[in-house]
Amino acid sequence: MKAIARALADAARQLEPTSDTARLDSELLMAEALHIDRDKLILSPPSRAVPQRFWDMVERRKRGEPVAYITGRRAFWNIELHVGPGVLVPRPDSEVLISSAIEHFEGKSGPGRILDLGTGPGTLLLAALDIWPEATGIGIDLSRQALSYAAANARRLGFDNRSTLRQGNWAAGITERFDLLLCNPPYIADGAELGRGVAEYEPDEALFAGEEGLGAYRELAPQLPGLLNPGGLAAVEIGPSQANAVVALLARDGLGARVAQDLGGRDRALLLTWI
Ligand SMILES: C[S@@+](CC[C@H](N)C(=O)[O-])C[C@H]1O[C@@H](n2cnc3c(N)ncnc32)[C@H](O)[C@@H]1O
Repeated sequence: MKAIARALADAARQLEPTSDTARLDSELLMAEALHIDRDKLILSPPSRAVPQRFWDMVERRKRGEPVAYITGRRAFWNIELHVGPGVLVPRPDSEVLISSAIEHFEGKSGPGRILDLGTGPGTLLLAALDIWPEATGIGIDLSRQALSYAAANARRLGFDNRSTLRQGNWAAGITERFDLLLCNPPYIADGAELGRGVAEYEPDEALFAGEEGLGAYRELAPQLPGLLNPGGLAAVEIGPSQANAVVALLARDGLGARVAQDLGGRDRALLLTWI
């Protein structure tokens, strides 16, 4: 067995007690250590010594640090985002907001103006700008640190002339209406048990939202009806058990709601349109 293959298997074994995705983690860290992409690592693994950097990264992962903080990036939909301490790591569950928007605008001209509330590293806004090259948009976050990642990602992806990134408290002060509103707010109940590494490493303001995790939806509820153009869509991420509570909060003043599921079949988004 070659050195790289042996190290991948050995690291996956070491990571098993602390990670549900031990083999994948091991491959992502090795690809990063070798400065190649994971496809190349799997399809034609190089014949060379294992860099010490790989084992250093495995040690950090064993302590629970997210892989994306260790490698400094994370793929989301069709783009790659740079991330690190102080900003949420984009999750594949959130891709349902993007697929729902694509479905909504199928056969129509895409959204012209997009608003992303709680943009973090620019996740939803930048993925949407990549899909609809004519669109422009605004990303808002309370966290300056998150906005600095978002701005760097917008620049690196070539979207800085189509995106405005701004510090704000949800949509306070925004008077414009949008064709597509994307929002993945914090929705975890204060004090809830989270997977290893999440609460220790990722920022509280991106995760927790009061006793039942509904605090952000309560703040967003009065703002939503004034933000959407007729024919537009608001796609808001929810926790799997929150659909009824969030429908009751958000679907008001002429907005109708539908629930969408993530790839695991769990309720994950509320889709709001004019009725
Ligand atoms: C769950 S994270 C989502 C990040 C990104 N949209 C994603 O899906 O990967 C929630 C984001 O909302 C931001 N946030 C929390 N409270 C906010 C508020 N009152 N106004 C604006 N943004 C807020 C956090 O800083 C964090 O970046």
